[in-house]
Amino acid sequence: MKVFKTSQSLVEYLSNETRPIGMVPTMGALHSGHLTLIERAVKENKSVLISIFVNPTQFNDKNDLVNYPSSVVEDLLQIKKISKKILVYIPKVNDVYGNIVESKSFDLAGLDQVMEGEKRSGHFQGVATVVAYFLKTFTPDHAYFGEKDFQQLLIINYINRSLNLKTKIIGCPIVREKDGLAMSSRNILLTADQRKKASKLFEALQIAKSNAKRIPYRSLKTTINSFFESQDKITLDYFMIVDPNTLKEIHLDQPVDRGRGFIAAYLGKIRLIDNLDMS
Ligand code: PAF
Repeated sequence: MKVFKTSQSLVEYLSNETRPIGMVPTMGALHSGHLTLIERAVKENKSVLISIFVNPTQFNDKNDLVNYPSSVVEDLLQIKKISKKILVYIPKVNDVYGNIVESKSFDLAGLDQVMEGEKRSGHFQGVATVVAYFLKTFTPDHAYFGEKDFQQLLIINYINRSLNLKTKIIGCPIVREKDGLAMSSRNILLTADQRKKASKLFEALQIAKSNAKRIPYRSLKTTINSFFESQDKITLDYFMIVDPNTLKEIHLDQPVDRGRGFIAAYLGKIRLIDNLDMS
């Protein structure tokens, strides 16, 4: 395993690496979801690059940035267990941004105006800025992202196409805990009590899926709202079913024909998201 602190040294090194190169961008605090992406990248590429970088511009809430979990030493141990040949990029903020730490302004075709984009102003411009930087600078052949951040995946695919980058973006299925909770670095911030309640997000998505074809979407929304109202210590932020390509909300008066359900909920100050194909 080789660790790089600057993009310049990494670019130089990569110029002699055998392609295909697979990249797994992360913000660290690696969990089994990340490890699945890394294992897949190792299988499908001759060289693998992982970035560990908590990208400041994608945090609309300063407290969220300050409290974001970090475990670089453990992360490196976990990576080493998968393969000793993996390259790891752990930059300081100025290596990525120089002296001006701000997002670029991308046309994201409105994909950033709903759900997470609406709730977390500027979040996707920050994600697009850092991912475009990685893809342009390191030119990986493949880049791997989890479907837990499905909206992010769609936006990354969009900028990859619109900027005419050559990387193939590979979306990977959500990895879940035994009780259905989608794996996320934020899960370790939950208290034991909150952790028990956190599986309600997936439970709600399953309830939605099992009723989706039977009742109009409007009624389904009421069902999911009531489900959360009957729970304590967890508060629904939003539940929506949208077209999986455009993220436009489906028709309220009809049962779901095709769509993906998205949910966000608060457990105390911790906000978790999840999603599930409804067809
Ligand atoms: O999904 C994440 O961990 C981050 O949003 C990403 C893609 C690494 C960009 O900072």
